[in-house]
Amino acid sequence: MIHLGAFLNAGAQGTAGWRHPDAAPGFLTAAHYVRIAQVLEQGLFDFAFVPDALAVPRSLGGSFDPAVKWGSGTPRLDPVPVISLMAAVTTRLGVAATVSTGYHEPYNVARQFATIDHLTGGRSGWNVVTSFQDAEAQNFGRPKLPPRPERYARAEEFLEVTTRLWDSWADDAIVADKVSGVFGRPEAVTAIDHDGERFRVQGPLSVPRPPQGYPVIIQAGASESGRDFAARWADVIFCSHESLASAIAFYIDVKSRAAAHGRDPDQLKILPAATPVIGRDVHDALARHEAFADLVSVEAGLSRLAYHVNVDLTAFDPDGPLPPLEEVGVEGHYREVVEFAERERLTVAQIGRWYGARTEGSLIGSASDIADTIEQWVDAGAADGFVIQATHVPAAFEDFVATVVPELQRRGRFRTAYEGDTLRENLGLKRPGQGEWKARRA
Ligand SMILES: Cc1cc2nc3c(=O)[nH]c(=O)nc-3n(C[C@H](O)[C@H](O)[C@H](O)COP(=O)(O)O)c2cc1C
Repeated sequence: MIHLGAFLNAGAQGTAGWRHPDAAPGFLTAAHYVRIAQVLEQGLFDFAFVPDALAVPRSLGGSFDPAVKWGSGTPRLDPVPVISLMAAVTTRLGVAATVSTGYHEPYNVARQFATIDHLTGGRSGWNVVTSFQDAEAQNFGRPKLPPRPERYARAEEFLEVTTRLWDSWADDAIVADKVSGVFGRPEAVTAIDHDGERFRVQGPLSVPRPPQGYPVIIQAGASESGRDFAARWADVIFCSHESLASAIAFYIDVKSRAAAHGRDPDQLKILPAATPVIGRDVHDALARHEAFADLVSVEAGLSRLAYHVNVDLTAFDPDGPLPPLEEVGVEGHYREVVEFAERERLTVAQIGRWYGARTEGSLIGSASDIADTIEQWVDAGAADGFVIQATHVPAAFEDFVATVVPELQRRGRFRTAYEGDTLRENLGLKRPGQGEWKARRA
């Protein structure tokens, strides 16, 4: 069975998406997220996934002007209240929010997700990111993005503390016996007394153990340290690829890393990003894609790429090739750009135009063509499903739910009803027992 997540900016949908003639304008209103949540649940999606960044990007030319002018990576609502709202109007859809380990404290984050997991009856997911922009660091008293080893070392200790806090209440700690007056069993609640390099946390958490044990942990690191971290901690890896070959290589690599850490590789779901452009046939879909790409200016696309790689691209000749970049923000996105730009021999300006309207996964065609590609990727061992990105919302999700979902169901590749009540159950993931953190840490 194929799993489907939906990628949803809590703000304007991409550099071109907000300009699309069919895009709904209300991305700062509750009604917008309510509508999308309902569409995704109608389509039996496993979860909605809200990305995030803690700054208005200012990588291009050291200024936030391009980001504001083109709606590139800004604005962004806080994803946690947004997913709470989406959960309140659904009963089965999983809801996942991005929260950075770089600029929060583990106690707050553990409490936030434990709360959401209770309120949703076990439908929450946390996309663990280490953040990648200088502009984010500068909002939290740091001059620039800390080096990758430091980011992942902090993330490692962060996850250890968070999972231990979730485990600080046994599943049966609350008795709530009205007759005896005993509310909870103190012997089932423990302090964690963590005294580490970066955090000192006594515990226990002020919220009982989440219904899912741990909310579903999602990760999208693509560097060596990112893959190793994800292979141990993640339940779901979100990635993006420029070719089937690179997707297969990535899939094999992280599943083997998970196995090497003693995990069942099937308990780690790999979901690449894919942006469908659906037409009556492939010609119609290509025309729609062309019209979509025409909505993006070079500067808008370069602004998007500059903040993803955390490098000021105005330093390079727009009519020359992209020189090798030494220290990049998101390693995964950088690799995809290099792969595509070398294959197509693109200049910096051409890369910008392509990147601004990028539709990962080549899902361009009729609903049947798209279902073919989805099946092909899953059968080739490149994916356990996809995170569907919408060119514009909510219409692109509505079209996908109306056409591609039934096609996948007809082929017996996608559920016709939710299997379970929790996000873990729908993803086919076991509920971690108390103490699971010991097996996952480095
Ligand atoms: C498909 C994809 C989606 C991502 N989404 C986010 C996001 O919403 N917010 C964020 O701060 N980082 C995001 N990232 C960045 C990673 O999670 C990670 O923190 C960053 O890439 C640095 O790790 P790396 O160098 O190991 O890739 C994303 C990365 C990929 C590949």
